[in-house]
Amino acid sequence: MEKRVLSGIRATGRLHLGNFLGAVMGMLELQNSPDYETLYMVADVHTITTPFNIEELRKNRREVIIDYLAAGLDPEKSVIFQQSEVSEHLELAFYFSSVATIARMQHLPTFKEKVKQYPHHSTMALLNYPILMASDILVYKAGLVPVGIDQEPHLEVAREIARKMNQLYGTDFPEPKRFATKGEYIPSLTGEGKMSKTVAGSFINLTDSLEEIRKKIRSIPTATHAGGEMSEGVKTLFKFAELYISNEAEKYKEEFNKGTLQFVTLKDAISEAIYRDLQPFQERRKKIESDQKYVDKVIKEGAQKARAIASKTVKEVRKKMGLL
Ligand code: TRP
Repeated sequence: MEKRVLSGIRATGRLHLGNFLGAVMGMLELQNSPDYETLYMVADVHTITTPFNIEELRKNRREVIIDYLAAGLDPEKSVIFQQSEVSEHLELAFYFSSVATIARMQHLPTFKEKVKQYPHHSTMALLNYPILMASDILVYKAGLVPVGIDQEPHLEVAREIARKMNQLYGTDFPEPKRFATKGEYIPSLTGEGKMSKTVAGSFINLTDSLEEIRKKIRSIPTATHAGGEMSEGVKTLFKFAELYISNEAEKYKEEFNKGTLQFVTLKDAISEAIYRDLQPFQERRKKIESDQKYVDKVIKEGAQKARAIASKTVKEVRKKMGLL
């Protein structure tokens, strides 16, 4: 049997370069390999685990689907869908919550960060975030998950839940593994942490113009430490150099070591390479945007295909748990 793959991105806005390099490149690689059956969703239900705006959610989840299509995810090859349309994810998540402890969920670094970020919104939904994610994956019995490295703690929870369910109820859930890509950790342009939609000035949009990209890349702080050690901003810059102008990265590094590097030259070379790389995406996105009927069709058909698989798993679990 082909190996099954599932991944998703939250509907907090259009995708940025970090999502693109960290998750979407891996999704594409697996989609285009004949050994895998791929399912890719927009995690719109996960979006309600932190404060959100109703109209923005409605709009953003569609933008993510359009971004997926523009990036090359192909409904002929992958099941592309919205999480909320497959209610089986939520049902299975509740069954899963019976084998997950509160203490375990409270100790996850992702949970602690969000509580710090939104101290007045530490809701049950937020605590349940990893359980729903485990359900997203396991409702399709997917064994491989292309996501960024920051999601590893969530995958660990999914593996624990799979193991417990198999032990207690005799199910046959796989223990899902992360599929890593070269761009699995894309640093923030601020020189601190990772590129994130919720941190202003940290990201490049996939639809940014050359001017916008240049402005953002130029803003990466590159003040050098005494002793020639690389600051976080400089490291970030060289990370982009490796990803986008790998042939010249060494040359620039030597210049840096000699103390002769003109940062603006390196920055502009990177900006141009990023922009060039995004061109096909930007052109396809324009075409897809002008054909909203096609987008509707993709969403509708994706949900049908996903439900067909998910409903089988839920039925099986209900039987094994004595609920059917
Ligand atoms: N938690 C993931 C993120 O923030 C999004 C997500 C939700 C996901 N469900 C998933 C990723 C299932 C992979 C598989 O990036």
